[in-house]
Parts: sequence; structure tokens; C-alpha cells
Amino acid sequence: MKSSRIPGFYKMSVSDRKKMISEIHNLSNKDLQLFDGGALSVDTADNMIENVVGTYSLPLGLGLNFLINDRDYTIPMAVEEASVVASASYIAKIVRDAGGFTTEATDRVMIGQIQVIGSPDLHQAKDAILKEKESLLQQANKAYPSIVARGGGAEDLEVRILNETADSLYQQMLVVHIYINTCDAMGANMINTMVESLAPSVEKLTKGKVYLRILSNLADRCLASAKCVIPPHLLGSEGFSGEEVRDGIVLAYEFADSDPYRAATHNKGIMNGIDPVVIATGNDWRAVEAGAHAYAARHGVYGSMTSWSVDETGNLIGELELPMSIGTVGGATRVHPTARLALELLDVKSASELSQVIVAVGLAQNLGALKALVTDGIQKGHMALHSRSVAVAAGATGELVDIIAEKLIEANDIRVGKAKQLVGELKK
Ligand code: MEV
Repeated sequence: MKSSRIPGFYKMSVSDRKKMISEIHNLSNKDLQLFDGGALSVDTADNMIENVVGTYSLPLGLGLNFLINDRDYTIPMAVEEASVVASASYIAKIVRDAGGFTTEATDRVMIGQIQVIGSPDLHQAKDAILKEKESLLQQANKAYPSIVARGGGAEDLEVRILNETADSLYQQMLVVHIYINTCDAMGANMINTMVESLAPSVEKLTKGKVYLRILSNLADRCLASAKCVIPPHLLGSEGFSGEEVRDGIVLAYEFADSDPYRAATHNKGIMNGIDPVVIATGNDWRAVEAGAHAYAARHGVYGSMTSWSVDETGNLIGELELPMSIGTVGGATRVHPTARLALELLDVKSASELSQVIVAVGLAQNLGALKALVTDGIQKGHMALHSRSVAVAAGATGELVDIIAEKLIEANDIRVGKAKQLVGELKK
């Protein structure tokens, strides 16, 4: 098995890390070059978006120690924030010692919406659509036959009436939901093509006018979930017993779940883990963000995406379930060369498997933040890592980076100005 447990990885040079990873994952030198900035050529970028003038790089780190459903995963994470990768790897080690994450996913059914305005009778219009359900689904599938060949396609349909009692005709509407199994694709093009193709038939059946025809990012039929069970002795840290840390984490969860002001920050910490994997694999992180936050408000109040509780034997139980509209085929996943390499490193067989890995990282990231918050506070670890970026920003290179970073922490003054002064002194 390709292990993701590589003690001391963080202390190696970048080239030694690359060598180590290429040995474990049988990567070629050509593959390895994709880690270097500039793997996405300007020519390729020019075919991806408009008005291209160049490309933009982010640090790519590897989340280690992840054991998910008894399988090891090395997790590429593209992110600008210090301590995210370190924290995820640190927590993954704790969870690994507790037996690893367990994850699940529903079928990958995405939603396309069609908005209908002005039907003379909303209920008659609804019945008319439902009566023609099978032929509408067939018509949708005809608009995108390749997904049917891959075992997916439009599978079901529902009709919702919104604002039925509203006075304004602007507010009363019918919304048709088409449920589409997108298999290993995120499926935006497929869904939008299908709902657009249905518009004329829907207008005829409802005697109304179709306005919006677009996917919904609240992909609540395309869910992935992760769980961990951690005995308290694995949670203790200097000056804090495992039980204290465990109880602090449950209290932190209750705070987030009772207060949208805290929930926004708590959930941002979860997305700190999720977005970097979504980005590294070439997926649409805005879609995942939108779905995740909307799902966190599905009960009518915005709350915590995760839940933390204590079981009857005193173990800490963490759970996270989120919509995961990502893909392993199509879009930038196969166009961006580094995204291709990221998927190879992850070695996932399907979008469902990738979505489960992503939620496991989100759960780890949340635990990392909460563990720090209920013990030393977030700044201690964060500043230790941040000091390295400050040292680099001040012009430190090679071994000078660690020396300056340490001196900045000692001086309790982590600013570029101070680091520049130290660089000057040490270079002398
Ligand atoms: C910082 O990027 C994320 C945290 O604020 C998350 C949290 O407060 O739970 C530390």
C-alpha cells in the first residue's frame, strides 16, 4: 500500500520531498515537473478563460497521514494560508491512530432548475408536467446522450410551487427540478444543456413562460460524509487533558451551531481544508462553497457544518456531511496539468471517492482549528508557521529562513520590517 505516513516530511528540502513522493507514487521526472510553477501554459490558459495575460500560482502542499476507509491517501492541497496543511496532517495522524476516517456518499444526483412564470393555474401546470414526466426525462437525456451511455442521465423530476399566496405575479412561480446522475462529472454543462432543452415543452405544458434554466448548487442529492471516533487520550496536549480538549471541542461546536457569527468562522475553517483539495484537483470551488454554506442553513438557520459529540465510552465523535459537486472528468480536472497530477497522486477511482476524501479533509481541518482554539489559541502555531513566510518576504533564503523565523518568534515581533533587519544583520 502507498503509505501517506512519512515522518519528517516537513523537515525535508522541496527536492527531497519530490523525490520521496515520486518513489512512493511511481511518478516520472516529467510528472514531477508539473509541481513546478508554470505547468499550466499561457496557451492552455488562453483556451480556458478570456482576456488571458498569464497564469497565477499557489503553493501546493501535501496533506499526509490520511487513512480513510482503511486506505492511505496523499492529499494535494493548493492554498495560500500557512498552517492549513500542517494542521490537517497533524489531525490526520491522530485520527489514523484512532483507526482512521470512515466515509460514505450518496449517488451523484445533481439538480437542474426551470423557473416558470405566469401559468394561469399553478396546480394544473404542475399536474401537466408530472403527467409528462417520462417523456420530459427522455427529452432531457436526448439533449446529452453521452451521459446516458456512461450509466447516468436525467432520472427523476419534481415540481415545486413558490409563493402561491403572494399577490404579486412576479413572486408566484413554478419551479421544475430535474434530477440528473452526472456519474464522475461535476456536470454543469450537462445539466444546463438538459434544462435549456426542456424549456419549450415546459412552456407548452404549463402555459407559462420559462425564465431561468440553470443547475442548483444546493446539491443535496450529491452528498458525501465523513466520521471519526477518537478516544480522549489521543487528544491531550501540553497542559490539557484529553477529556478537557474533547469537552472544549463539543462546546465549540455548540457555540457554532447556536450562533451564525461563530458558525461562519467555524465553517470557514472547514472550507480551509476542502477548498485546497477542490482547487488542486481543478474543480469549481465556488460551487462547493455555495453548496456547503447553503446546506449548513438547510434547517432555516445557518449552523455548523460539522457535529461533535461524546459517545457512551467517552470517545469524541466528529461528523461532516456536505454536498460535493465535484468531478474527476471534464472541466479543468483534465485540462490543468497539475490537476491531472493531483488526481493521480490521490489515486481515486471515481468522483464519489474524491468527494469522500474531501469531506474527510474538511473534518480534520475543523478538528485542527477547534483543538488549537480550546487549548493554546490559534496564534501560537499559526505565528510559528507565518514567521517563515515573513522571513521569505524579507528576502531570507535556504537555511536562513528557519533561523530568521525562530528569531522572529523569540522576539515576539513577526513583521517583515523586523525580518529585514535580521536578514541584514545575519548576512553581514
Ligand atoms: C482561520 O483560517 C480558520 C479559523 O478561524 C477557524 C475557526 O475559528 O474555527 C481558525
